[in-house]
Amino acid sequence: MMPRSITKSELLDSVAASALGRALEPLTMLFKRNAYASLAYENTRILALAFAYLRSEEVAGDYAEFGVATGRTFIEAWRVASGQGEGDRRLFAFDSFEGLPETEGVDATGRFKTGEFSNARGTFEGRMRRSRVPSDRVHIVEGFFDQTLAQPELIPLDQVALAWVDCDLYSSTVPVLDYLTPRLPNGSILLFDDWYCFKGDPEKGEAKACKEWLDRNPDITLVPWRQHNWAGQAFIVRRADPEDAGARQ
Ligand SMILES: C[S@@+](CC[C@H](N)C(=O)[O-])C[C@H]1O[C@@H](n2cnc3c(N)ncnc32)[C@H](O)[C@@H]1O
Repeated sequence: MMPRSITKSELLDSVAASALGRALEPLTMLFKRNAYASLAYENTRILALAFAYLRSEEVAGDYAEFGVATGRTFIEAWRVASGQGEGDRRLFAFDSFEGLPETEGVDATGRFKTGEFSNARGTFEGRMRRSRVPSDRVHIVEGFFDQTLAQPELIPLDQVALAWVDCDLYSSTVPVLDYLTPRLPNGSILLFDDWYCFKGDPEKGEAKACKEWLDRNPDITLVPWRQHNWAGQAFIVRRADPEDAGARQ
């Protein structure tokens, strides 16, 4: 019988199982950790570019993150902003701290699960304290978006220069975008962390909510700015009438 040719993955498996492979395992782990670290670096990089852009284009407003979980990106936003002398921008954290809401309809067709990413508010606050994020610069809005954002008068936020939307689901993104409509000035950055989730289907997730939002608000257009990580897409917001961003500019 002719010997079967070995596939690349079989070759890698057999090398990993060999004495040499086992000896090299600590090195392999280091490489894997670096690969994860490079994903976090992507966030740092786009935050650095975003704050530099906002400064140079003189776009005023605060940082708002919709879905903060344990604060990984939120804390990095503070580090980057303060490091660039942009520490006078306030930071708004929006989260249920109970994880994702009930996944229904199109949201139930993907990998996201009800209650996923549930993290206590105390965990988020503890990480902020340990990272020395000054509490007087931070405003936390706790609760599900369809409830908290329906009462904007309780949130002292008028203008958002950088909106980081990281809430995975279509149903979560709809109230976020409606809340942002009068608060995004011309030239602000609207970043969707999960734009290409649901296998890039434009009829699902954040992309679907955004398409419908643009249909409802013909005065707003989005200029593709940068992709980041494996699923994110950032846009620059253009308003037909720059004064529109609300009456709030
Ligand atoms: C993927 S995690 C966010 C990760 C975080 N931005 C980071 O970089 O570490 C998604 C978060 O969105 C929150 N979330 C999703 N939908 C929500 C909703 N409708 N109301 C409130 N919070 C929501 C979840 O509780 C969860 O903490």
